[in-house]
Amino acid sequence: MSRTPLVSGNWKMHLNHLEAIQVCQKLSYELARHRYDRVEVSLHPPFVDLRSCQTVIDADRLEFKLGAQNCHDQSHGAFTGEVSPAMLAKLDVSYVIVGHSERRALFGETDEFVAAKAAAVAKAGMAPIVCVGETLDDREAGRAAEVVTTQLQGSLAKLTRAHFETLVVAYEPVWAIGTGRNASPQDAQDMCATVRQVVDDIRRGTGQHLRIQYGGSVKPANAQELLAQPDIDGALVGGASLDPTQFARIVQAAL
Ligand code: PGA
Repeated sequence: MSRTPLVSGNWKMHLNHLEAIQVCQKLSYELARHRYDRVEVSLHPPFVDLRSCQTVIDADRLEFKLGAQNCHDQSHGAFTGEVSPAMLAKLDVSYVIVGHSERRALFGETDEFVAAKAAAVAKAGMAPIVCVGETLDDREAGRAAEVVTTQLQGSLAKLTRAHFETLVVAYEPVWAIGTGRNASPQDAQDMCATVRQVVDDIRRGTGQHLRIQYGGSVKPANAQELLAQPDIDGALVGGASLDPTQFARIVQAAL
């Protein structure tokens, strides 16, 4: 089964729209010699940068896919401060991260809300990147697989069979995000294999095609080993995606 790796840059709350344009352009320069038929790259800037990034990607014919970091599950309405999937689709957004651990921990997002968002993203014609991952306490208590399984069952509950064709799951152990600590390639592989099995149990026959990213302190120094694992089909990169040189080296490791 060949799955095209997806390397995604989650810029979080960094870079204003002018800085974002510069990073897009620098990254395209760094990646000019890369083979985009063998790896997909998505960039997830803050909402206010999306239009600028879309314009530069379009004008310069850059090969990146545009992504968002979050959205609401409703198409419109009285939801002050929120952005709908339809609005993102109109900006040529291809991928939307949903259920990132920062949203779950800092903004109280439940599996149920994540499930509604993932389904709304898929219905709007984009691919959800659904994030799951255990805390350090969960891991030390031997509950990591159980926690991730519960998150997947809850977060994917509203997707139809057709939606599973574009679904991406990002396994991001919470203790590895932004900490400089990453899971060992073997631990990451074991959990990604579990993710594939659980997704296949939820919708029989979909596990094989599913793209699973690993995320949590992915850097040029560890990317090669992580991405070489059979069940890891890409990376969700935070800190290192803000530096075009580092991010390009991570993309290269996925080739
Ligand atoms: P990090 O973030 O690469 O800075 O650890 C990953 C993420 O939060 O998606």
